[in-house]
Amino acid sequence: MFAELERKIEQKRDEGIEVISLGIGDPDTPTFRYVVEAMREAVGDPSTHRYPSNRGRPEFRQAFADFYRWRFGVEIDAVDEVIPAIGAKECIYNLCFAFLDPGDVALASDPGYPVYTAGPALAGAEAELLPLVPALGFVPDLDAIPAEKLQRARLLFINYPNNPTGAVVPDGFFERVVELAREHEILVVHDNAYSETTFDGYVAPSFLATPGAKEVGVEVFSLSKGYNMTGWRCAAILGNAAAIKSYWRLKTNVDSGLFEAVQLAGAAALRGPRSEVEEMSSIYQGRRDLVIDALGAIGVEVEPPKGTIYVWAPVPEGHSSASFAELVLEEAAVVVSPGSMYGPSGEGFFRISLTTPDLQLTEAVSRMRAHLS
Ligand SMILES: Cc1ncc(COP(=O)(O)O)c(C=O)c1O
Repeated sequence: MFAELERKIEQKRDEGIEVISLGIGDPDTPTFRYVVEAMREAVGDPSTHRYPSNRGRPEFRQAFADFYRWRFGVEIDAVDEVIPAIGAKECIYNLCFAFLDPGDVALASDPGYPVYTAGPALAGAEAELLPLVPALGFVPDLDAIPAEKLQRARLLFINYPNNPTGAVVPDGFFERVVELAREHEILVVHDNAYSETTFDGYVAPSFLATPGAKEVGVEVFSLSKGYNMTGWRCAAILGNAAAIKSYWRLKTNVDSGLFEAVQLAGAAALRGPRSEVEEMSSIYQGRRDLVIDALGAIGVEVEPPKGTIYVWAPVPEGHSSASFAELVLEEAAVVVSPGSMYGPSGEGFFRISLTTPDLQLTEAVSRMRAHLS
């Protein structure tokens, strides 16, 4: 399916047609200037030039502890409850190797970020898919997980605000997750990639603010999306000290840590003015409204998401995810992601990313209005 989409995109480009991609979730706006300045300074500091320690610089760990206190009301011990990760993707992948053996199960949202299933498979374990459906607000039905899978489950991946559905966590869900994890001795991994990108006054919580969460889980906090830093590979894992130690022990055999200049720039990002982060949310909110409006005009009704950089929408009657993505490409020369890319429960949906500059996004939605109404 994807090869066919790729072929059609190439063909259009060869015909001289400007194809606009609303596919990839990679912020189009540069990293905030104060972060770039902090990086310039850090690169000039010879203390950042040697092998980093996988434990991270004290400045990095303390910046995270302070950020978690003021932003989420969560106390983090800067000595043993936080270490750097080379992006959330690395962290999630390596957690699979630290915690899963053949025969073990990882519980993974479906649709979901692909590493939740690829990581367990590469580690020789199994991913058990937990469907996210609109009727349940895109949270998994924890009571529907087969007992046999729960018995073998070692990891549970969750992610709110959620990619690809844009859903935010409903009241009480994190509490249920803590109960389940306690009962079945599962390590919860909350992938917090989007908490800083929220709309309409919504403020996203940390999983670690849930009573008991630190006993059963970790949170991976990435600076990629909220701080326009996808290329920098800057994230941290926070929470359960024993789990972080296992991850650290694995990492000392795999990589040699996060460039210390990036750690210092990441610390500066977290300590920086809040206005930049808020401005990004307001830009994405404007784009979200533009997209929702245009979708309404072509008969696709969507509840506006309260967070993330995505709009997740049902395909019109009579279409599959792939056939609708093909139609949009054919008629409007616009690329949307077929929902089935994110797992079988994504079938029947498509995803639009809001990380396209305003002018191009406006052009894309006006083409969709013109050719698909
Ligand atoms: C849910 C989720 N987790 C993690 C990532 C990757 O984050 P990082 O750039 O820190 O590896 C993404 C990127 O799209 C994502 O959507």
